[in-house]
Parts: sequence; structure tokens; C-alpha cells
Amino acid sequence: MEVSSASTTDDSFYSNAVQYWSEIPPTIDGMLGGFGHISQTDIRDSKLLLKQLFNSKEPPGRGHALDCGAGIGRITKHLLSDFFDRIDLVEQNPKFLSQAEQYLGPKLQEKVNYYSVGLQSFKPEKQYDVIWCQWVLGHLTDLDLVTFLKSCQSGLKPNGVIIIKENISSSEDIDKDERDSSVTRPLSLFRQIFAKADLDCYRQVKQRNFPKGLYTVYMFILRPQKQHVPDE
Ligand SMILES: C[S@@+](CC[C@H](N)C(=O)[O-])C[C@H]1O[C@@H](n2cnc3c(N)ncnc32)[C@H](O)[C@@H]1O
Repeated sequence: MEVSSASTTDDSFYSNAVQYWSEIPPTIDGMLGGFGHISQTDIRDSKLLLKQLFNSKEPPGRGHALDCGAGIGRITKHLLSDFFDRIDLVEQNPKFLSQAEQYLGPKLQEKVNYYSVGLQSFKPEKQYDVIWCQWVLGHLTDLDLVTFLKSCQSGLKPNGVIIIKENISSSEDIDKDERDSSVTRPLSLFRQIFAKADLDCYRQVKQRNFPKGLYTVYMFILRPQKQHVPDE
């Protein structure tokens, strides 16, 4: 089945999101749509996932991580900085990135780098052990998401992985949110997108203990598909 574009009017899809986020305060509550109180629960399961990944066969290194759609740096501060020597943050809203400088504090400043750009225009210039994408990919069209994931692949070190943590729709349909100009995708569509981007889903884990009424959230660990060496 073809992966359809999330929006046929990509320009307004992106500019409406920029407009929406420009009015959101640079706080944890702002990042999580008024659900700042779920941050610890979110981080707890993410930490467990990373610990298990580092205990697995052929784990990624602990040198460099990329935090995609980083906002004010919530994930960098509470998760990635515990595991990695250096972290780059990519985020399209400059107000959030300048708040990140304060929020992360002087000690973490020494190990972070900022890119103020939309993911639809971002191409990794460096090589990363882990590329973490959380609660942002619904802001990319399907086509841009495939392109983004492909370019992330070329930005992975040996044994590097892409980790996606996103809301999942409860039906087979895409839920569109006109307010923040995003989409929530069903699992089946994520699977198609991973395949289009030549990625294997090595693990798929459901977030636990979120309040009732929120979307189901899954974490996916993705690896470049193994190259098939033709028989001689
Ligand atoms: C729901 S917040 C999540 C922030 C962070 N990932 C976290 O979990 O704390 C979504 C973030 O994605 C950013 N964003 C939205 N569209 C984006 C795009 N096209 N490229 C990069 N960042 C984007 C927003 O500015 C906002 O900071």
C-alpha cells in the first residue's frame, strides 16, 4: 500500500504549527499540552528502554545523541544527559531553544549544541549513537517523515539506532488536529513508513501508567535494514 501524504497543503500544515507553538509558553506544561505531571512517568519508561538497549547484544555507543523536536530540553535534561557525553537539540522554535539554555543550566551547556530548524529541512551533519524523536513526528507529512528517517539513517554511527516515542491512534485512521496542525497515526501506518525508510523495528514497547483518556504511546527502536549481499 502507498504511504499517503498527511496533508496536501504542506505549506499551511507547517506554518500553522509554527504559529501554534509560537503562542505556547516555554514550560514543561507547555511542552506536554497541560500534562506536565506525566513527565516523570514518561521519563521512567524511557530510561528503562535505554537501559535494556545498552544491556542488549551490539548496543549503541554512549557518545552522541540527537534530541529531535527538543522543545525546552526536557528529554535532554532528564533522560539523554544521563546516558550520553554529548547531545544535539534540533527544534524549530527559537524561543524554546533560548529557554533550553536556562533550563539545562551551565553544566549541561558544555555538552549540548543547538539547531534551530524544522525537521522537514534538517539533515544530520554529524554521526549519532541514538537519535531520539518524541512527540514531534505528527508535525511532519508522511513523505517528509520518510525522507527525514532516511537522512537520520545516514547520520548513525555503527550500532546506532533511531528511537521514536509517539502517540498512536486507536483506529486504523489518522486523527488530524487542526489546533496544533498535527496528525496522530495508527500503528499500521508507522510500520509502512518504517519500511519505506528501509528501517527495521527491533523493539516496540508500550508506555505504561499514563492517565486514562490519553492516546496510547509506543516506543520503537529502529535500525537500518541489513544490506542483502547477493549470492555469488
Ligand atoms: C509536544 S512538544 C514535545 C517537546 C519534547 N519532544 C518533549 O517531549 O518534551 C513538540 C515540539 O516539537 C516542536 N516542533 C513542532 N513542529 C516541528 C518541526 N516541524 N520541526 C521541529 N520541531 C517541531 C515544537 O516547537 C515543540 O517544541
